[in-house]
Amino acid sequence: MKLFHAPASPFVRKVMVLLHEAKATDRVTLVPASGSPLDPGTLPVDRNPLGKIPALERPDGPTLYDSRVISRYLDDLLQARLYPAAPRLWDTLVIEATGDGIAEAAVLMRYEVHLRPETTRSPAWVDAQWQKIARALAALEDRWMSHLSGPPDMGQIAVACALGYLDFRHADRPWRTTHPVLAAWYATFDARPAMRGTAPDA
Ligand code: BEZ
Repeated sequence: MKLFHAPASPFVRKVMVLLHEAKATDRVTLVPASGSPLDPGTLPVDRNPLGKIPALERPDGPTLYDSRVISRYLDDLLQARLYPAAPRLWDTLVIEATGDGIAEAAVLMRYEVHLRPETTRSPAWVDAQWQKIARALAALEDRWMSHLSGPPDMGQIAVACALGYLDFRHADRPWRTTHPVLAAWYATFDARPAMRGTAPDA
C-alpha cells in the first residue's frame, strides 16, 4: 500500500502513530506529497479529488481518504483494536473528531499566516479559529480526561497529534497553563515510542 505523506501533517501523523502502535509500518510505502490550498503541488489530486493527505492507495479497492476513514480501515486490517466496541466507541469517535477539529483549526491558522499576504490577513478570523481550539481544549479537560486516561485508542491518538501540531506551529500560544490536566496527560502520551517516532521536524 502507498501512503501519501507529509511529516508535518497532524492527520498523516495519526495514521503513522496507528501503524507504529500496530507494529505495521512495513505495510505501507511512504510517498512524499506536498502542496497547499493555493497550489496542489504533488498532492494526489488524481486519487483524492480534494487534494488532501493522508490518502492510502491499496491493491484491492479505491484509494482511501481522509485520516478517519484510513484509520478505521487500517485498524480493521491490522486488528489494531484502537477503536473499542460500542458504547465506548461513541466516546472514542467524539474525541477523535475533537482532536481533528483542533488540528483543522490550527492548520487553517497556519495557512492564513503562511499563505496570505499580510495586508489581506484577518486577525479576527485567526482569533475565531483559536477560540474554537480553546473551547475544544476546555471540553477535553472538563469532560474527557477519564477516557483519555484509559486504554490507548484513536481518540487519544487524534488529540495527541493535534496537541503536537499546536506545539509545532503555534508555540507562541501556550495552552498548558490553562489546561494543566490535559498537559500532564499529553506529557505521558507523547513519550510513547509511536509518538516519538512520528514527531515532525522543525
Ligand atoms: C504544515 O506544514 O503545517 C502542514 C503540512 C501539511 C498538512 C498540514 C499542515
